[in-house]
Amino acid sequence: MARARLNSGNAQAEELPKAKINKDSIKQVMRLLSYLKPYRKKFFLGLLCLIFSSTSSFLFPLLMGRLIGIGAQAEQEGRMVPNEILDIFPTEINTVALTLLCVLFIQAIFSYFRINWFVEVAEKGLADIRRDTYHKLITLPMNFFSQRRVGELNSRLSADLSQIQDAITTTLAEMIRQIIIFTGGITFLILVSGKLTFMLLAVLPILVLVAVTFGKFIRKISRQAQDKLAESNTVVEETLQGISNVKAFVNESYEVERYNKSIREVVKIALRGAKFRGIFASFIVFCLFGVIVSVVWYGSYLVQIGEISIASMFTFILLSTFVGAAMGSFPELYATMQKAVGASERVLEILAEENEPIAMDEKKNGIKKIIRGNLEFKNVVFSYPSRKEITVLNGVSFDAKMGEKVAIIGPSGAGKSTIAGLILRFYEPESGSILFDGTSSNDFSLTDIRNQVAIVPQDVLLFGGTIRENIAYGRLTASEEEIQIAAKRANAHEFILSFPEGYDTLVGERGVKLSGGQRQRIAIARALLKDPALLILDEATSSLDSESERLVQEALEELMKNRTSVIIAHRLSTIREADRIIVLDKGKVVESGNHIELMKNENGLYRYLSQLQLENQETELN
Ligand SMILES: Nc1ncnc2c1ncn2[C@@H]1O[C@H](COP(=O)(O)OP(=O)(O)OP(=O)(O)O)[C@@H](O)[C@H]1O
Ligand SMILES: [Mg+2]
Repeated sequence: MARARLNSGNAQAEELPKAKINKDSIKQVMRLLSYLKPYRKKFFLGLLCLIFSSTSSFLFPLLMGRLIGIGAQAEQEGRMVPNEILDIFPTEINTVALTLLCVLFIQAIFSYFRINWFVEVAEKGLADIRRDTYHKLITLPMNFFSQRRVGELNSRLSADLSQIQDAITTTLAEMIRQIIIFTGGITFLILVSGKLTFMLLAVLPILVLVAVTFGKFIRKISRQAQDKLAESNTVVEETLQGISNVKAFVNESYEVERYNKSIREVVKIALRGAKFRGIFASFIVFCLFGVIVSVVWYGSYLVQIGEISIASMFTFILLSTFVGAAMGSFPELYATMQKAVGASERVLEILAEENEPIAMDEKKNGIKKIIRGNLEFKNVVFSYPSRKEITVLNGVSFDAKMGEKVAIIGPSGAGKSTIAGLILRFYEPESGSILFDGTSSNDFSLTDIRNQVAIVPQDVLLFGGTIRENIAYGRLTASEEEIQIAAKRANAHEFILSFPEGYDTLVGERGVKLSGGQRQRIAIARALLKDPALLILDEATSSLDSESERLVQEALEELMKNRTSVIIAHRLSTIREADRIIVLDKGKVVESGNHIELMKNENGLYRYLSQLQLENQETELN
């Protein structure tokens, strides 16, 4: 049972890299193990059970030998008459057999508690580590995320932590048990017969070594087969995801051939693996029995010359299977430990990162410093920490007074969304400053800024959950009525009610897919609920049809009332009314003014872009 779990744990973690086990890495792991501290009582109780049950397992071969010994002795002394049997039976044999049964029973109880306690400690400790790692993760600065892939971070929370959990619950226990059995076993073996032990130790390690290397090789092949299978599955995945493409290009037979080819390769590798596995199995069976035969052969000789008794030989054989099994399990246990150490190091790496100073327990509306809605950028220079060499903003200055609508326009990649990120302090500018109400944004806490600035982002992400929950994300304490009012003002109420489940409709990855315009209106409702002093609209680049554009536009007008708005626009028609338009190009403000002023500049970028869009619209209409 323990071995089966160990193996399954192994297979799943096979791809995880191993780490060296040395002083430093052990020190690191110890830091992670401090999470088990609150549960140490149970851990040590479990450990005690483990030591006890491992030690007591020696009673098994010893007492079994004793049993055989009694039988052998009886045989030597000739068959007994029934009443003599009665004399011997109840005393010796029964006592030994009963003791054996008792030992087995006690062992069973110890194992029960050991497993329960170890699992409890590991589960609770790991839950704490998981919680802290997740907490750490989501409070880390944006910069951290731009340098890592989501899949990789995700696997730290799942695969790495499971690896550690497995190590604590099974591998550690197994390791301790096997060490006790191995050292104790060798000691007993020597006590029983030094000569026989010598003979055993001459052949056993060779067998174990061959078995382990061979086993590794076979696992490598089966991993290759798995990889190939995964490869062929990507063919299926790709084609199913893009099924309309496959059909439109009538490429069904091509795809079938592609799949068939990779499936054939899986078979080829699997067959190769089967051949080696066959050799391996025969070899092990042959050698294992070979070792037993040679031990019994030499043992019988020793019995013959009167050096040991038959009982001792029997004990010896049983003990030697213990020792052999322990030897065989070490390499695998060590490898699992290595992986667990590697996993711990990666988890600790995250825990050691510096997070943003976010007040987690603070109530959402516990704003300490009010932002009234004046925003100013002063000579802001910025480059993304992950790509230092490219200056994204190069001395950007502009301001938005309370209640004003300021539009930012410019070609793709000019740095518009970057400005939005800087306002929310996802990143810090390299030089220059950002001011709210004339005070440096550094004097506001991150929590205060993000509570009073809302963003309707370029690509709206809906979380898996109901539409209601997604709107309430703007203010978690909002009542049902407030949510509906926000949805109405955002022009979303109607389409929400057109779904059979209304506000309870599930969206996100597993729910219904909302159109771009619908998603935006949900985001607008979210922002309305938040009721921020400063609003950032990052217009979606994908164009909406004119009806849904009108609905979104109306919703936006509603949202912009009574607050400062920074509108990042792609459709210039939407910003004619803006108080000020800032034209950004290659990280620099190249023009600013209202629509009329900017149109006067014959060679200006704004006039050029406006005309370009006008022409495009005309050709589209034609
Ligand atoms: N997280 C990031 N890490 C590194 N570079 C980035 C990151 N985000 C954006 N950039 C780069 O910064 C520059 C400005 O990007 P930004 O998203 O601000 O452009 P934009 O003006 O919003 O463009 P669009 O109109 O297409 O939305 C681009 O060159 C982009 O490649
Ligand atoms: Mg953008």
